[in-house]
Amino acid sequence: MLFEVLKKQRLKEYSFVSPHCISIFGDTSSLNEAVVDVLECNLRKTLNDKNSKPLGLATGKTMRPIYASLLNRLRNWSGPEIELLKDKWCSFNLDEYVGIQPQDLNSFTAYMWKNLGDPLGLKKHQINVPNGNTNDPKSEALFYSEELIKKGGLGLQLLGMGLNGHIGFNEPPCGLDSQCRVVLLSECTKKQNANDFSCDNNNLPKYAITLGIKEILAAEEIHLIVTGESKSRILRSLLTALPNDNLPASWLKRHMNLYIWVDKQAMILI
Ligand code: GLP
Repeated sequence: MLFEVLKKQRLKEYSFVSPHCISIFGDTSSLNEAVVDVLECNLRKTLNDKNSKPLGLATGKTMRPIYASLLNRLRNWSGPEIELLKDKWCSFNLDEYVGIQPQDLNSFTAYMWKNLGDPLGLKKHQINVPNGNTNDPKSEALFYSEELIKKGGLGLQLLGMGLNGHIGFNEPPCGLDSQCRVVLLSECTKKQNANDFSCDNNNLPKYAITLGIKEILAAEEIHLIVTGESKSRILRSLLTALPNDNLPASWLKRHMNLYIWVDKQAMILI
């Protein structure tokens, strides 16, 4: 608690982000549980809401324990509630590598089915991920953004952040008006994600399809989760920066319903 008060005092010095939108946790598992509280509440609301918008989902190491804990939580739901949830589920992921088969274990599609889709017993059309296995990724990006528009845009958006401040695969520099498109992955991102591929950087996909900052900022509410010491430098930059192209996550400060969730390790430089 004392830690939290002290850190919030320091945060006041970072005048560009309100301390009220930041929640700081002493350990990552309590952070994950708190995020799942919000998610669970949002999912419950959608059960009886005809106009609910799709859930915006992310991949990466940060999200894995959150999805695991959500699955645990849903075990306490009643049979009819779970059936209704399965019926109504509609989510859109942020991104996917280009030139990767959906069944490739390194694809974000496989990640989503392993961590949520299969355990929940969802149907193919309920978890939307851009199709990276195409000769025409530009058209796929356009198609994906149109599908999202047809469904009314994003409701609650979960976000992780790359070591270079990317969200989705919006690599710096990246403008406020960027839309769903094909992007060239930065060396920093390839290095960060190389471990997942258990191979050297040269075998990593070079391109990805990602929702843009514009689609992300159109979400009803945004939850950015930043954990671990490796993110402390970029978190400090995020908290001090005015929104700018070189730190794509900084555009999130323009959103009225932004919540930033951080653990003690990520706060180490603040
Ligand atoms: C990845 C993904 C993002 C993810 C971010 C953080 O490259 N494109 O969607 O949120 O970078 O990843 P991690 O949680 O593994 O640090």
